[in-house]
Amino acid sequence: MIDSRKKTSFVNFFTKKAKQNKIRARSWFKLDEINCKYNLFKPNMNVVDLGASPGSWSQYAINKIKPNGKVIACDILYMYPINGVKFIQGDFCNNGVFYKLIKTGRKNIQLILSDAAPNISGISLIDNKNFYNLLIKVILLCRKILIKNGNLVIKIFQGREINRYIKVISLLFNDVKISKPVASKSKSREIYIIGIKYKF
Ligand SMILES: C[S@@+](CC[C@H](N)C(=O)[O-])C[C@H]1O[C@@H](n2cnc3c(N)ncnc32)[C@H](O)[C@@H]1O
Repeated sequence: MIDSRKKTSFVNFFTKKAKQNKIRARSWFKLDEINCKYNLFKPNMNVVDLGASPGSWSQYAINKIKPNGKVIACDILYMYPINGVKFIQGDFCNNGVFYKLIKTGRKNIQLILSDAAPNISGISLIDNKNFYNLLIKVILLCRKILIKNGNLVIKIFQGREINRYIKVISLLFNDVKISKPVASKSKSREIYIIGIKYKF
């Protein structure tokens, strides 16, 4: 068990380490911890990275899926190019962007990552609704582009709705894991749900 003071200094440690290694964000270490536990990346696989900017998860993914894998990244915000990553700028909840992702991914994606989070208003009714809408959109995308036995990593904020989110994901995947990586601020309510082996 890591106490919260230790965890804060861990967060600073990861921010420094990211800078030193030309990694675009500390989030890289969260994905690395999740991947070390669940072994999600394989060479030559196709990955979709939602909420990708500034791009550390895309950096991580493209490195793991060499030589012939591809990453399709999407964010409302601009992302500086990464070799081998196709970037689609826009809100993936928007139909136009959503269909662009489907067209680019076809039914040929082995792993969907979503580190996206809606803007937090502080009003839990609104925030829960926005998160749920985002989750539903990611689930719809799984239906369209994730292959059978593919995997999902999605960021969720802990709250009253958490069991509902887990339930939705467990209907679609053979196994569901929950991760709170060390590089994640202990004060933050974020956790990651990992859906393992998509059923359809
Ligand atoms: C925590 S950052 C992601 C960091 C990224 N994983 C990395 O490693 O660099 C969350 C991102 O989600 C994006 N985002 C939130 N909602 C989105 C949506 N509906 N469509 C696309 N991007 C979204 C935000 O613009 C923000 O850049």
